Amino acid sequence: MKKRHSLGRIIGILSGLMVGGAFTGCGQPIDGDGGAAPEEVQAGGAVEWPQLTSRVAENPQLEARLDQLLEQMTLEEKVGQLFQAELRAVTPEDVREYHLGSILNGGGAFPNNNKHSSVDDWVALADSFYAASMDTSDGGTAVPIIWGTDAVHGHNNVIGATLYPHNIALGATRNPDLIREIGKATAAEVAATGIDWDFSPTLAVARDDRWGRTYESYSEDPAVVKSYGGPMVEGLQGDPQSDGFLSGGQVIATAKHFIADGGTRDGIDRGDADISEEELMKIHAPGYFTAIEAGVQTVMASFSSWQGEKLHGHEYLLTDVLKKQMGFDGFVIGDWNGHQFVNGCSNTSCPQAINAGIDMFMAPDGDWKKLYASTLAQAKDGTISSGRLNDAVRRILRVKLRADLFERGAPSERALAGDESVIGAPEHRAVARRAVRESLVLLKNRDQLLPLARDQRVLVAGDGADNIGKQAGGWSVTWQGTGTDNSDFPGATSIYDGIAEAVTSAGGEAVLSEDGSFERKPDVAIVVFGEDPYAEMQGDIANLDYSDDEDLALLRKLHAQDVPVVSLFITGRPLWVNPEINASDAFAVIWQPGTEGGGVADVVFRDARGEVNHDFVGKLPFTWPENAVPTPRNLADSGQALFPYGYGLDFGERGIAAAQLPEESGLTRRDIADALPVFEGRALDPWSLEVVDIANNRQPITTSIAELDGIRVQSVDRNVQEDSRRLQWSGQGPASVGFFANSRTDLSAYLEADGALVFDVKVDKAPSSAASIGMNCGTDCLATQPVTDLLRAAEPGQWGTVSVALQCMAEQGAQMDMVLSPFFMLTEGEMDVSVNSIRIATDVEADIQCG
Ligand code: BGC
Ligand code: BGC
Repeated sequence: MKKRHSLGRIIGILSGLMVGGAFTGCGQPIDGDGGAAPEEVQAGGAVEWPQLTSRVAENPQLEARLDQLLEQMTLEEKVGQLFQAELRAVTPEDVREYHLGSILNGGGAFPNNNKHSSVDDWVALADSFYAASMDTSDGGTAVPIIWGTDAVHGHNNVIGATLYPHNIALGATRNPDLIREIGKATAAEVAATGIDWDFSPTLAVARDDRWGRTYESYSEDPAVVKSYGGPMVEGLQGDPQSDGFLSGGQVIATAKHFIADGGTRDGIDRGDADISEEELMKIHAPGYFTAIEAGVQTVMASFSSWQGEKLHGHEYLLTDVLKKQMGFDGFVIGDWNGHQFVNGCSNTSCPQAINAGIDMFMAPDGDWKKLYASTLAQAKDGTISSGRLNDAVRRILRVKLRADLFERGAPSERALAGDESVIGAPEHRAVARRAVRESLVLLKNRDQLLPLARDQRVLVAGDGADNIGKQAGGWSVTWQGTGTDNSDFPGATSIYDGIAEAVTSAGGEAVLSEDGSFERKPDVAIVVFGEDPYAEMQGDIANLDYSDDEDLALLRKLHAQDVPVVSLFITGRPLWVNPEINASDAFAVIWQPGTEGGGVADVVFRDARGEVNHDFVGKLPFTWPENAVPTPRNLADSGQALFPYGYGLDFGERGIAAAQLPEESGLTRRDIADALPVFEGRALDPWSLEVVDIANNRQPITTSIAELDGIRVQSVDRNVQEDSRRLQWSGQGPASVGFFANSRTDLSAYLEADGALVFDVKVDKAPSSAASIGMNCGTDCLATQPVTDLLRAAEPGQWGTVSVALQCMAEQGAQMDMVLSPFFMLTEGEMDVSVNSIRIATDVEADIQCG
C-alpha cells in the first residue's frame, strides 16, 4: 500500500485541526469531493450583508484584455497563477517552469537567507523572479509575478526599515489620518525593495485578549477598525481616483484575515468563532466594508473557523458574502498552508478551497509542487470547473493589470526601487515618532509627577529600557520578534536613547541601569518593562496575569528607597498589573512602539523651557481588566473593567488609580482531585471522542461502531458493557483518535503535583510502524511520545496500565495550562488496541519519564 501521508504531516494537521474543529456545526463532515451542494454544507443567510461599491471603477478595456489573456493561456499557465510559493522553497527556475503567479517572503525570510541583505539584494532578487515570469521562450504567455510580504508595522522584514507601533497602539490614537500616512510611508519602503504587495492591514477585532495576535488588532471596537480599514488601504495603494493609484511608490494591500480571526473562543489562534451571523457581520466585518470601498485588491482568508467550518473552505462566506454580496472583485489569497485544515484536504490536495472561493493558494513549503500537480489534475478532470478556474485567474490578472505590472517593467525600473534612502527615511521616522506620542496611554499620575523636568538625575531601569527588539514586538526582523539585538535595528532609537537625549540636552543626567541599582540617588526612576515579543500561535496565553516577580521587585525596591517611580509598560494587550501600578507613582502603557522610542520621552518630559511638550492623548482601544480572570470584557465600562474602554488621562487629571488598587488576581488554583477522568466508559466533559481519518476528515464518534477511512472505532466490554473502545488502524495511512474539547483545560496543578497521563490498554495487534500518544494545546502546541516499543512488548490480549509523566509532555511542548486534548493516539501502520480508563492522576511514578 502506497503511503499517502507522513506521520509528520498528520501531526501538522492535528495541531491545526484540533483547534476549534473542522467539521460543520451539525457534526456532518463536508463532502470530500468538493462538489457538495451548497445548502448541505453552509450555515448562513440569516442576515443581510451590505452591498458595497469599490472606488476602483470597473474598466471595460481592462476586462477585454483579461478575456484575451484567458483565451491565450494554457491550462498549466492558469493553474500556475493560483500559486504563491515562499522564498525558502522556490527559485526563479520554478517560476519559469510552473508559471507561478506569486511568491512571498514569510516572517524572517530574506534574500540568500541573509538578514543583512541590502536594498539592492532585495531588488535584484525581485528582478530575477520577474524575469522568469516574463520569459516566453517556451512560447507561452508572459504574466508578471507579484511578490507579497508582511509589512505589518512598517517593512518589518528589512533591516533598517522604519517600524511603526503595532496596531493596538495605533488604535489608541483614534487618528485615521495618521493611519493613512503610515500606510503611504510603509508602501514607499516596500516599493524601494522591489516588492509589490503588502499583507496588511489586519482588520481583526480581537475580542479575547488571550489571543496572541491581539496587538495586530486596532481595537476591540469595530467602529475603530472600520474607521482605519479604508485609510490604511488608501495609504498603501493610493487614491483609486487619482493617477497615483497603485503606481509610483504604492503597493497592493490585503485585508486580513477574513473573517473573525479575532473572534475565536478563548482567543485560541486559528480556533473557532462560535458566534451568530449577526455578530459576525456587526463585529468582525466593518473593517472590510471600508477597505473594500477604498478598493483593497486582495483579501486573505483566515486560518480560523466560523461555527466549526474552516474559512478556507467556506463557500458561503468567501463567495456568496464577500465576492457576490459585498462586490469584492480582487482576489482571495489563502494563508500559510491554511488549506490543509479544510475537512478532506491535505497540504498537497485541496480543490475544496478553490471551489469555495480561494483564488490563490499560499503554499509556502516544498509541498507546493505536489499541490500544483493535484490542482492541475483536478482542473483537467473537472473537480475544479473551468468556470471557477477562469474566475480565479481573471481576478488575479485583474489585480496585476490594475497595478500596471504588465507595463511597469522590471522591479528595479519602478519608482523608488533600489533607493536606499527610502528605507528608514527621516520623514518616515518622524511619522512613526508622532504615532508613538499619540499612542501612549496614561493610567496613573500620582501628584502630577508627569511631565518630568529634564534637568534632573534620571535613572532608567527595566529590561525594556534599551531593548529595541522588545519595544518592537513580534514581526520585527524575525517572525516571532525574538533572537534580535539592537544592532539588528540600525537607525532606531531605544526608549533609553530618547530619554538620554531629552535629559542631557537640558543639562540633566540619564543613567541606564537595567536592574535599578545606583550609586547616587536619582531624582526619579523610569522603569521600562513588560511582555517579551511573540507572534501568532506562540503568543496565546491562559489568563491575563502579567506577573513577573523581578519587575515587581524592582519597582518595589525603588519605591522603598523613596525614589519616585514612572512605569512604562510594554505590552501587546491589556494585562492585569495592579501590583505593578500600586508600586508606581505614574504608570503609562506604551504598547510596542517600534523603532522610534524617542516618541516616549517627547511626552514624558517637559520641553527645555519647562513647558508641557506633548500631553498624553492616547485612549485605551481595549478594556483594561479588573482582575486576571480570562473572560472577554469588550467595551465594558464598569464591573469587569479597571479602566474602561476609552480611558486615558492627560496631565491635568487625577484618575482612579491614585488610590491603592486591590491585589487579588481573581485566579484560583482549583483544588485538584487525585485524578481527573477523561474517559471512563464514556468521554467526560468537556471532552469528546473524535477521529481524524486518513483523508483528514475530523469526526466526532457518537455511535458504538464507526467505520472510517483507515480506522475503525468500536465500543467493547471489559468490566461492564461497552466501557472500553477498540481502535483498529488498517495501515492505509496516518489516522488518529483521541479526546478533544473546544475550550482549554488548565492541568498545571497536576503538572506540579507530579501528575501523569494514565490509561489502560490491551494490545491485540501491535503497531506495524511507529505509534505515539500525544497531548495538544493548539496549533504548534503539542507533544507526542512514542509508544511503539511499549505496545509491542505488551502481552497480547491482556489489559495493562501505561503512564506518561506530564513533565515529559510539558518538556516536549504541551502547555499544561491550556490543554485542548489530553490524550490522542496516532499511527500510520496497522494496529489493534483497546483503551479504557483514561485519566490525569497525581503522584504517579510514571512509566514514561523524559529528560
Ligand atoms: C499569517 C499571516 C501572514 C502569513 C505570511 C501567516 O501565518 O497568519 O498573517 O500574512 O503567514 O507570512
Ligand atoms: C513564517 C511566517 C508564517 C509562519 C506560519 C513562519 O515560518 O516565517 O511568515 O506566518 O511560519 O506558520
